Amino acid sequence: MIDGRLHAERVPLEQIAQTFGTPTWVYSRAAIESAFDEFAAACGSRSALICYAIKANSSLAILELLARRGAGFDIVSGGELARVLAAGADPGKVVFSGVGKTVSEMRDALKAGVRCFNVESESELVRLNAVAGSMQKLAPVSLRINPDVDAGTHPYISTGLRENKFGIAHDRALAAYRTAAALPHLKVMGIDCHIGSQITEIAPFLAALDRLLELVDQLTQAGITLHHLDLGGGLGITYRDEVPPSRRDTLQALFARIDAWAQQRGRAVPEVMFEFGRSMVGNAGVLLTRVEVIKENGGRHFAVVDAAMNDLMRPAMYEAWHDIVPLQAGHAPAQTYDVVGPVCESGDWLGRARTLAIEEGDLLAVMSAGAYGMAMSSNYNTRARGAEVMVDSDRMHLIRERERVTDLYALERRLPAA
Ligand code: LLP
Repeated sequence: MIDGRLHAERVPLEQIAQTFGTPTWVYSRAAIESAFDEFAAACGSRSALICYAIKANSSLAILELLARRGAGFDIVSGGELARVLAAGADPGKVVFSGVGKTVSEMRDALKAGVRCFNVESESELVRLNAVAGSMQKLAPVSLRINPDVDAGTHPYISTGLRENKFGIAHDRALAAYRTAAALPHLKVMGIDCHIGSQITEIAPFLAALDRLLELVDQLTQAGITLHHLDLGGGLGITYRDEVPPSRRDTLQALFARIDAWAQQRGRAVPEVMFEFGRSMVGNAGVLLTRVEVIKENGGRHFAVVDAAMNDLMRPAMYEAWHDIVPLQAGHAPAQTYDVVGPVCESGDWLGRARTLAIEEGDLLAVMSAGAYGMAMSSNYNTRARGAEVMVDSDRMHLIRERERVTDLYALERRLPAA
């Protein structure tokens, strides 16, 4: 807020809405860079790679920003590989995660020369070995271990429990590593895990790390040495009143544990990698929207806005809470509203029971929308997605044009005349 007006860095959000219309996503360059810098500073001079999990927001401009700063990238599809390459990232800093990689995705990633494949099953090991063999290449692999710890987060975004589809069960890990080590076209590089998202305590990260270190000890005894530990992502942000640990404290707690472990065993400290998504971009973005209609039904007041569940799916999908803030203090009386979109679904809401002093035509910012916002959006109801704008101090750059409706059916074909 500057002079009662909501800003992104030094640009009033109202000016962005006037220039580009609504709905529009706005990101702060400084906020993204400082999130990355905080992680990087916590690593100091140790051997570490901070990857950005691009699923959180795969806009080329954001990737480019982070690539220039030295970030690595965590990808989960051939599409994401194409994006990081298009953004000019170094493929040698890319890790390829995901539970169902196809042969052609494996081939493309081997051709590009990614740093590591985070393999999630024994079947994937066999498949990757065959693909690498057919290309006369050696595929660098890490096994994603399911440490069976509870990240204490929403069930849809918790991934480290035994019954999740992710990773290789802890008790099967040794056998899987033996398989990997015996396959001629694989090179065993590391071990990885990712236990969930929007984690607001350090304890689950430490618990998962301990489980991985136990395994590293067993592997060493079995004659398999690893070069790196990839501890995944998952650090939470503040949407409402959550108080997640700082980026620095989180990394330092993990490093302290790793260093003590290495020292006890008189072995070199392994390289450490991370795959942070939300904590890199979540608080760096907002979604601008305009109030179209104010109405009352059965005693409930609704503010129908021009953004909807197709734009920001998180409230409908996880009952996620995003703060909703008018861009300017209005003159209308305060009222408790359900802030909803125009999509034909009762689940189409952005915020429920919010006290707002608003009227039709007012502009609102849906806060903390930088992660899993645009990246999860769809064209449901043939709604063209909004523009994306990156603010850099007092400048604004259009980084993605608003879609045109004709774009949405450009790939469709009419039937021949009857
Ligand atoms: N690495 C792997 C293997 C992942 O599956 C994920 C996220 C990440 C890293 C990054 O996690 P982060 O640092 O962003 O928490 N759509 C949900 C979140 C799904 C997260 C999926 N995996 C949401 O909107 O809350």
